[in-house]
Amino acid sequence: MEKRLNIGVLVSGSGSNLQSIIDHRESGLLDVNIRVVISNNPDAYALERSKKHEIPSVVIRHSDFRDREDFDRKVIEVLKDYAVELVVLSGFMRVITPAFLHAFPMKIMNIHPALLPAFPGVHAQQRAVEYGVKFSGCTVHFVDEGVDTGPIIIQSVVPVYDDDTEESLAARILKEEHRIYPRAIQFYAEGRIGVTGRKVRIRDSDRTCESALHNPPLAGF
Ligand code: GRF
Repeated sequence: MEKRLNIGVLVSGSGSNLQSIIDHRESGLLDVNIRVVISNNPDAYALERSKKHEIPSVVIRHSDFRDREDFDRKVIEVLKDYAVELVVLSGFMRVITPAFLHAFPMKIMNIHPALLPAFPGVHAQQRAVEYGVKFSGCTVHFVDEGVDTGPIIIQSVVPVYDDDTEESLAARILKEEHRIYPRAIQFYAEGRIGVTGRKVRIRDSDRTCESALHNPPLAGF
């Protein structure tokens, strides 16, 4: 039997993406070991989820550390202790330092609730609604030194409607996050991801349909 990829999931909050990763793992669609969940927030609901599924969890409070580098050093130490090969950021609200990137080069993934490079940073869904875009979505990408700037692995597009609020759009996007994050991790686990510069290629993946999406629809026009 082939060795399973060891992943570590970093969280700060609710952890619904963590839950989706756990569920895909349990249903056999995701072939990884979830070795450890690390939270910088002791009250994160994600910690309850990991306990319920008997996944080791570690709280590393950022306020206990002098600076970001010190905090990241501790996180790296724990990830190495658990032999983590891929780091999965799942609503982790801390900026990653260069030392962390260096310890896991092209081995840190993040999910962002917008179609990058549009709306990087915080409040992405609110900014999409305010801007008046007709489509938004979510993006799984590798982490580099910028904020939400790394090579894009997979994106999912959702429509934005006239009566959408930040909450309704966030809910539509979150459903898709729960689908594409496990998919991206499984691509990685299967060794199908190749990165050249900014470009990510997924080996042996089909083309999406050739037709365009319109919002509002063209309706016979
Ligand atoms: C998600 O919207 C994700 O895109 C963003 O933070 C949120 C985390 O949600 N990075 P959860 O903790 O996985 O429920």
